[in-house]
Formats: sequence, C-alpha cells, structure tokens
Amino acid sequence: MKKILITGGAGFIGSCVVRRFVNNYPDYLIVNLDSLTYAGNLQNLIDIEDFPNYRFEKADIRNKEEINRIFDKYDITDVVHLAAESHVDRSITNPLDFVLTNVIGTVTLLEAAKTKWKENYGEHLFYHVSTDEVYGALGSEGLFTEETRYDPHSPYSASKAASDHFVRAYHDTYGIKAVVSNCSNNYGPYHFPEKLIPLMINNIINHKPLPVYGDGNYTRDWLYVKDHAVAIDLVFHEGKSGDTYNIGGFNEWKNIDLVLLLCKQMDEKLGREPGTSNKLITYVKDRPGHDRRYAIDASKINRELGWKPSVTFEQGLSETIDWFLANEKWLNDVTSGNYATYYDKQYANI
Ligand code: NAD
Ligand code: TYD
Repeated sequence: MKKILITGGAGFIGSCVVRRFVNNYPDYLIVNLDSLTYAGNLQNLIDIEDFPNYRFEKADIRNKEEINRIFDKYDITDVVHLAAESHVDRSITNPLDFVLTNVIGTVTLLEAAKTKWKENYGEHLFYHVSTDEVYGALGSEGLFTEETRYDPHSPYSASKAASDHFVRAYHDTYGIKAVVSNCSNNYGPYHFPEKLIPLMINNIINHKPLPVYGDGNYTRDWLYVKDHAVAIDLVFHEGKSGDTYNIGGFNEWKNIDLVLLLCKQMDEKLGREPGTSNKLITYVKDRPGHDRRYAIDASKINRELGWKPSVTFEQGLSETIDWFLANEKWLNDVTSGNYATYYDKQYANI
C-alpha cells in the first residue's frame, strides 16, 4: 500500500493535489505535511478532512526530527513535495526564508528519504514539484524545453533551481528514484490573493486599484490548477525516474491584456457597467529583476504521458471568478488572517 507524504498540501496547488489523490486513490494513505505559513489554510481541505485515507501533520520541512518522526509514524513510501515559499515579491524582500524552506527544507526531506528508504531505493519515489521560473526569461520568441539551461533571476527562482539540483543530485549520487516537473503559472480556486489573478479579482470586487507592474507587457503562460493536479498525478504514476517534465497551458497572456479580460468578465458577472473596472487599473513601479516572458513547451508530457490541459482559459477563468464570488468568506478570512485560527479549532485537542 502506498503511503504518500504530500508536503505543502494546505497551500493553493497542494490542496488541489491532496484532494485529487484522496478522492481518486482510496487505497493510498495520503499524509499532508504543512507548517501552515500565511499561505497554508486548512479551510482549503474541509471537504476531505474526514476521509479515512487522509491525515494531516502540522510540521516544518526544515525540522529534521519532525520529518523523521512522520516518515516512521506512517512508514512513508513516496513523497510529492510542494511545500515552499512561493511568491516572487516576498523573495525580493526576504530571500533568506526562501533559502531556508525551499533549499534546506528540500534537502532535509531528501535526507529523511535517503535514510528511511535505504533498504530499497527502487520501490520509492521522490517527486519535486517545481516551476518554469528556473529557466529565466524568454525574449519575444521561443519556449522553455526540458533542455533549456537554468538561468534563475529572482531569489524565489534561484531557490527552486537549487532544490531541483539537489533532487537530481540525490538521484544521481544515491540512486533514489526521483522526478521533477517544472510548471508555468497556475490559477484557480483557493489561490492566495497576493498573486496576480486572485489579487486583481479581490481588488475588483472591492473597487480597489489594480496595480500593474512596469509597462504591463510582461507575459506569463497560465494553467488551470486542476489541470496541473492531473499532470502531477500522471507524472507521479507514469513519469520516468531521473526525468524532467515541463507542464504548461499553451496559453500566453500579457499581464495588461489579462487584467483587461478580468475586468470585462467581472463587470459582466457583477452587473457593473462595461468599462467600470478598467478605471481601477494603475501602472506602478516595476518589480526589480522582472522576467519579461515565460512560455512552456509541454510537448514531452503530451507525447509521453498523453497529458494536455482540459479547459480553455476563458472557461477556467470564468470558473475561478465564480468560485471567488461564491466564497467571499474564504477571501475575507485570508485577507483578514482569520484562517490562522482554523487549525487550532480543528486540531487543538489531538
Ligand atoms: P503556496 O504558497 O500556496 O503554498 C505553499 C504551502 O507550503 C503552504 O501551505 C505553506 O504553509 C507550506 N509551507 C511553506 N513553508 C513550509 C515549511 N517550511 N514547512 C512545511 N510547509 C511549508 O504555493 P503554491 O502556489 O501552491 O505552490 C506549490 C508548489 O508549486 C511550490 O513548490 C511552487 O514553487 C510550485 N509552483 C507553483 C506555481 C504557481 O503558479 N503557484 C507554478 C509552478 C510551480
Ligand atoms: P505573480 O502572480 O506574482 O507570479 P510570478 O511572478 O511568479 O510570475 O505575477 C504574475 C505577473 O504579474 C508578473 O509579471 C508580475 C505581475 N504582477 C503585476 O503586474 N501586479 C501585481 O500586483 C502582481 C502581484 C503581479
């Protein structure tokens, strides 16, 4: 029986992955390990928290003793590692947190896996969920492939690049089965409203300024989070150890065009006059070291594992906006910090 440690399962992508694994694989035990930083929120998993194949452990991936204890307690067979500091702007103001969690935390997990699985490395998998930002920035042409040279620019992407290298080093040096996937920008339900799309949705709802960095012509390739979770499921089950898989939406948008699309869709949904939200757009000082363009060539995962995105951007965005409009309490809780008490309410007596 697989006993899978999913780290960062209370975050945006992690909660989607945990939900998918818990629902789709009743024969697996899914252990969600998360330290519940500002980005971790157990409200994201209320629908599955009582499932018999689900457990939650509040722990920090930097804490060696805790990680070893959890490996032993559940006899962990595989790891899907998503826990990370994930926001570029925060990495610019506080790079050390990113090194500690993303690099030291990842190596701490790898060390636990190396020790616990040493009898038979061939039977266990360490899967690192990473980002396309490790490849740096593109000009107006071309796509990131699995062969693109690493060239990270932000402290966030530098820390993710380092952790990718450590995962590969443990595969090459110790023979641990490992895969890495590098994905483009995700969007969808439960997205923390500091990232572009949920921040703009929240600000439009509340008639607040929509801060567009620099000239607004920076380009990102957007993927619906549920499609990323499907890809992670496939790579986990069918990916080749030692390989890398790029995952992307084939869906490039300049930031300003995306913000205009959001304004249009939200004005319609909120019953506001067309053009109302456009007036909130405010060009602000650029992010230092801002990568001009990201775009993924996802043909390898399509060719080898048969994956492709299942929803169009218009569908995914519409579903996302509907989710935020229907979940105002979630949005208010995370913007006011109320969710921090949810863990205490649920787990205080365990
Ligand atoms: P997130 O910030 O929403 O969630 C991160 C989770 O990790 C939170 O639940 C947090 O509590 C937990 N965490 C942070 N530090 C921890 C620590 N020291 N110990 C234990 N738990 C800790 O992030 P996300 O957007 O869901 O991203 C998840 C992963 O996917 C990250 O590794 C990120 O680099 C990667 N990724 C994200 C995107 C994206 O667009 N968001 C794209 C590609 C890859
Ligand atoms: P973000 O969601 O932070 O993701 P990443 O930096 O990892 O790609 O930002 C997406 C793009 O949107 C990026 O080019 C920066 C830009 N941006 C803004 O213009 N305004 C904002 O308020 C934010 C948060 C981002």
